[in-house]
Amino acid sequence: MKIFVTRKIPGDHLEKLKKEGFEVAISEFNRVITTEGLLEGIKGVDAILSLLTDKIDGDVMDAAGPQLKLISNYAVGFDNIDIEAATKRGIIVCNTPSDEVNEAVAEHTWALILALARRIVEADEATRRGAYRGWEPDIFLGTNLIGKTLGVVGLGRIGSMVARRAQGYKMNVLYTKNSPDPDAERELGVKFASLDELLANSDFVSLHVPLTAETRHMMDKDTFAKMKKGSYLINTARGQVVDERALVDALASAQIAGAALDVFDNEPNISPEIIADQKVITTPHIASATREARDKMGEQAVAAIIDTLKGVKPQNIVDEKVWDIRRK
Ligand code: GLV
Ligand code: GLV
Repeated sequence: MKIFVTRKIPGDHLEKLKKEGFEVAISEFNRVITTEGLLEGIKGVDAILSLLTDKIDGDVMDAAGPQLKLISNYAVGFDNIDIEAATKRGIIVCNTPSDEVNEAVAEHTWALILALARRIVEADEATRRGAYRGWEPDIFLGTNLIGKTLGVVGLGRIGSMVARRAQGYKMNVLYTKNSPDPDAERELGVKFASLDELLANSDFVSLHVPLTAETRHMMDKDTFAKMKKGSYLINTARGQVVDERALVDALASAQIAGAALDVFDNEPNISPEIIADQKVITTPHIASATREARDKMGEQAVAAIIDTLKGVKPQNIVDEKVWDIRRK
């Protein structure tokens, strides 16, 4: 059995694949693999270990050949893979949504919320620039979180972990979800809202939806106009959930007071207006970048390959119904 790994991952989990007797090829480049490199590498393999930066559509699957059984995506998100095309071909797709990863993203979200509220990045820059002249009554005024409202757009696993932490700051929490979740309401003290209601009433809006046809540019000119004036946007989900042009305009018109972004509409490119704006905090898609999370991602991505190639049903199949029609 052959496996292609599109880029070296941290830790020694890949060694387990070799111990199983599989033939493992790892892209030799420490960068996103080129399309040619991908097409060449996957030819004749039984499984691909892919990253969220690899675009895998039906043509790529076909280029691998009819023996391809599994795409194990080293990520929680799987918008880089055409799931429908995979299922149609009987190819299993797995992702790596562990508590470790989800907590890491939730914690990063809170790092961004706090940094926005207290202008940590701006203040740090000013201090390093030598602008600190001693205590002053009116520098870097921020905002208290207590009593404010956090809007969690998408109360899934990560969204719930973000909401849980809001209790510690004594914030009110509104959430959107396909339908109200009475258990979550009881446990987390959160309140269901439509997206419009959430945007109109939240001081901080944090996005936790996957990228789909429905959520692509969900935050656009119209939805920014519905946000409470002077509120903040946090995005640790997927960049394309936000129309970056519309975000630039919402910041310029002071419709929103600031934004914290870990993901971008056209990664790795970022609008120059965003980079230049002191009201925006940026991090380079690192919400899941903790040692614990990456270790678990490697463990799960590799376990899915070993299980599948041994005929055992793997954990975290994205589209469960593929199991019955899988390629053998
Ligand atoms: C990171 O963005 C992930 O989806 O794991
Ligand atoms: C993903 O972002 C989720 O809501 O679990």
